[in-house]
Amino acid sequence: MNKCTVAELLSSNNFLQEVTIKGWVRTFRANRFIALNDGSTINNIQCVVDFENTSEATLKRITTGAAISIKGTLTESQGKGQSVEIQVNEIEILGDSNPEEYPIQPKKHSFEFLRENAHLRIRTNTFSAVMRVRSALSFAIHKYFVENGFYHFHAPIITGSDAEGAGEMFQVSTLNPNKLPKNETGTVDHSKDFFGKQTNLTVSGQLEAETYAMALGKVYTFGPTFRAENSNTTRHLAEFWMIEPEVAFNNLDDNMDLAEDFIKSVISDILKNCKDDLAFLNDRLLQEEKSKPQNERSELSLLEKLNFVVENNFKRVSYTEAIDILRNCKPNKNKKFQYLINEWGADLQSEHERYLVEKHFKCPVILFDYPANIKAFYMRLNEDGKTVRAMDVLFPGIGEIVGGSQREERLQVLQQKMKALNIDEHELWWYLDTRKFGTAVHSGFGLGFERLVQYATGMGNIRDVIPYPRTPQNAEF
Ligand code: 4AD
Ligand code: MG
Repeated sequence: MNKCTVAELLSSNNFLQEVTIKGWVRTFRANRFIALNDGSTINNIQCVVDFENTSEATLKRITTGAAISIKGTLTESQGKGQSVEIQVNEIEILGDSNPEEYPIQPKKHSFEFLRENAHLRIRTNTFSAVMRVRSALSFAIHKYFVENGFYHFHAPIITGSDAEGAGEMFQVSTLNPNKLPKNETGTVDHSKDFFGKQTNLTVSGQLEAETYAMALGKVYTFGPTFRAENSNTTRHLAEFWMIEPEVAFNNLDDNMDLAEDFIKSVISDILKNCKDDLAFLNDRLLQEEKSKPQNERSELSLLEKLNFVVENNFKRVSYTEAIDILRNCKPNKNKKFQYLINEWGADLQSEHERYLVEKHFKCPVILFDYPANIKAFYMRLNEDGKTVRAMDVLFPGIGEIVGGSQREERLQVLQQKMKALNIDEHELWWYLDTRKFGTAVHSGFGLGFERLVQYATGMGNIRDVIPYPRTPQNAEF
């Protein structure tokens, strides 16, 4: 008796073998046909019940969502759309699922409804496909870096610094909120706190990764990061996963090459290894597109979009060139940008980024050499004294997927920058040490993992590509 997964059985032609299979009932039709799923594939296996020899009591318990174990014989299927099926010899109900109460019925549920049932939505085709692709992408990312000589570096989750200098941190404290100790100036006295100072959840592992790159050469982080930004958008989470490679002796061009090669490689990996799930998600989106007016439909299908990224060069454009394009364009016949770019130096809004990528270049774009005043303190100042060696990778339908830079390796320039931005040197003494002892050109970037999963699966809302999304006013599970 072979214990198998549904995926193994569906690709087997070892007919007449006796098999044992366990999974959850998706549907049960005509008291005879069970569609069984065990999570190993998007596809269900049909199990044909000999209802004349099965008790009425057992038949009643074969309901959507129930966990069952089946012993049976693998046979060639006569039915359409499946090559094999199981003739059931023995059936055991492992766990009942009351059809009156089980929320995930075999019908189309809205994503809003499913978000309220985040613990059960993984039992739907869409979410199981998305989460399998997410898992495959995670593995592809580790594989890419290990094969390219990188070390996986575990950045700390609790830190004393604000890597991005944006002040969007969740504080970590063991102080009693009702009895906060105060110092003379009336502010909270964190010397009595667990770590003896103010600490927070990390917004980025970059600064620590830099210290490791300056010894190990090539490192990458892949971990959760936290941002207390009050952004209620389809692209922002308060807790998201970030991949941050950091490479000694790489300049900005090398950094762009790495980002492009990395993204192409992991997408081509899932195109090879997630065929069934991507085909399902592709069809799902084609159906969704059909319900839109013709002029709003996407020109490319999901699979075409993924292949496009793998096969085409990303367009590299400086911020200054991008501003010229935006100044001279009309977003479309009747519409104007909500935010007009009037001066060089303004930050790009997502509508500008999307115009550049979706309307103007129609491909992924890497924007580089941004104005220094809209970027973080650690970026390498260019010779013009006003731009920094920053780069953002912009994707169609997503906007910014990667943010990175060549780092300021000159101690004095970095110190001046920190002073101008009121960043306390004493807080970052260890970071400055990398510039004092054997400093060198180095670069890195951060890729938002959920934004990559969004692109790969075609999901419109970032809340639907992470198991338990954390957003403002929302941490139910
Ligand atoms: O551009 P960001 O803020 O860059 C950094 O954190 C650098 N320290 C990275 C580095 O150079 N090592 O964030 C990097 C990426 C963004 O491009 C975006 O994809 C993602 O992280 N990201 C978010 N994803 C989901 N929700 C949020 N609130 C995000 N904020 C940033
Ligand atoms: Mg950014």
